[in-house]
Amino acid sequence: MRLLIMGAPGAGKGTQAALIKNEYKIAHISTGDMFRYHMSNNTPLGIEAHKYIDHGNLVPDELTIQMVYERLQEDDLANGFLLDGFPRNLNQAVALDDILKKLNIKLDCVLNITVDDNLLINRITGRRTCTKCGASYHVVSNKPKVEGICDVCGSTLVQRKDDTEETIKTRLDVYYKQTKPVLDYYEKTGIVKNVFGIGNIDEIFNNVKDVLGEIK
Ligand code: AP5
Ligand code: MG
Repeated sequence: MRLLIMGAPGAGKGTQAALIKNEYKIAHISTGDMFRYHMSNNTPLGIEAHKYIDHGNLVPDELTIQMVYERLQEDDLANGFLLDGFPRNLNQAVALDDILKKLNIKLDCVLNITVDDNLLINRITGRRTCTKCGASYHVVSNKPKVEGICDVCGSTLVQRKDDTEETIKTRLDVYYKQTKPVLDYYEKTGIVKNVFGIGNIDEIFNNVKDVLGEIK
C-alpha cells in the first residue's frame, strides 16, 4: 500500500501515521521527522534546515526532493509506505510524480485529515515529542503513561522548537498558500479520501481503516 497523509499542522498526521504503520507494516516516511533527525545530529542538511523550520517556513525544494528521492529507494519499502509532510507545494507534487514514474509505482490513496483551525493551535502548543523516536503526545488529550517519558521507547519528551504560537501562524499560512493547492491537485486524480480528524484518536483510526479497507 502506498499512501500519502495530508492535513494542516497539528491535524494528527503523525499520530495516525504511527497507528497506520503498525497496522499495515508499511514504512512511515515523515519529512519533518527526517529533518529533525538531521538537525539533532547537526548534519550539513540539518544545519541548513534549521534556518527554515525554526521560523515555520518550508525547507528549499532541491534539498527536500533529493532527500525523499533517496529515501524512496531504500530497501524497507516492500510492503509500501506512508508519506507524511511531502509533497508540500505543487513543485514537490510534480517532482513526486516524476520519482514514482521512475520507480514504476503509483499512489493508492491520499488520506486527508480535516480539523478546524481553531483546534490546531491548542493541539500544537500542547504537543510533546519524543527526542528519539519522534512519537507525539499531548499534555491533555494524549498523555504518556509517565509524564515526560515516551511510551514507545522510554526517551525524554520535549516541546518542538517550531511549536510556538508565533511560528504556528506562519505554518498555517504556508499550509493554506502552498500545501492546500497540492490537495486540489490530487483531488483531480480521484484518490483523495477525507477523514474527519476531530474526536478520539482511536475512533479516527477506525475511520482511517474503513477508508483504507476500500482501496485494498
Ligand atoms: P512537520 O513535522 O511535517 O509538521 P507539520 O506538517 O506542521 O505537522 P505537525 O507534525 O505539526 O502535525 P501533525 O499533523 O503530524 O500532528 P500530530 O499527529 O503531531 O514539518 C515541520 C517543518 O519541517 C515544516 O514546517 C517545514 O519547515 C519542514 N518540512 C517538512 N516537510 C517539508 C517539505 N516537504 N518541504 C519543505 N519543508 C518541509 O498531532 C498534533 C498534536 O495533537 C499532538 O500533541 C497529538 O497528540 C494531538 N492529537 C492528535 N490527534 C488528536 C485527536 N484526535 N484529538 C486530540 N489531540 C490529538
Ligand atoms: Mg507530524
